[in-house]
Amino acid sequence: MEVSVEQSKTIQTRLVLPSDTNHLGTIFGGTVLAYIDEIAAISAMRHARKAVVTVSIDKVDFISSAKVGDILKLEAFVYSTGRTSMKVFVKVETEDLFTGEHHLTTTCFLTMVAIDQNKKPTPVPKVIISEQEEQIVQLYQQNKRNNKA
Ligand SMILES: CC(C)(COP(=O)(O)OP(=O)(O)OC[C@H]1O[C@@H](n2cnc3c(N)ncnc32)[C@H](O)[C@@H]1OP(=O)(O)O)[C@@H](O)C(=O)NCCC(=O)NCCS
Repeated sequence: MEVSVEQSKTIQTRLVLPSDTNHLGTIFGGTVLAYIDEIAAISAMRHARKAVVTVSIDKVDFISSAKVGDILKLEAFVYSTGRTSMKVFVKVETEDLFTGEHHLTTTCFLTMVAIDQNKKPTPVPKVIISEQEEQIVQLYQQNKRNNKA
């Protein structure tokens, strides 16, 4: 069975609150990672239509910070599949509530594994990805300095 990238595309929006931030008023990296882990799991479950676990956070780049009052927009999709594993790309942007300005803040690549009732790895459908989507993933896999735009 094959499934398009569209099936796993997931978007979440969150507000950065004072309790999410450090003494500089910017968000904790661990808080962003928790959001990323959650959206990656939702995205992988949408792809597999099965329960999943995070097996690896392969790469994470914190490119710029988010401050109290910013809106965080997270986007995730499955871009590659193995037999039981799925590679998920997550992009996080901030939106300034007052100016509407967007900034890329974090990119992350994770591996999720589908599990059965016995918590053992179980097969997932193959993902169908377009050339354009593949290029987007490759762009973000390059050095974080290239992603600042
Ligand atoms: C995920 C888990 C079920 C895999 O069990 P396992 O016995 O290692 O299974 P396998 O060796 O058959 O690997 C299953 C798949 O995971 C992949 N995998 C395993 N470890 C990996 C790693 N560190 N990085 C990337 N992929 C990994 C394998 O390549 C395989 O992929 P494929 O089927 O697409 O080829 C097991 O490691 C586990 O339960 N881990 C804890 C997960 C968890 O609780 N996460 C929450 C955060 S603590």
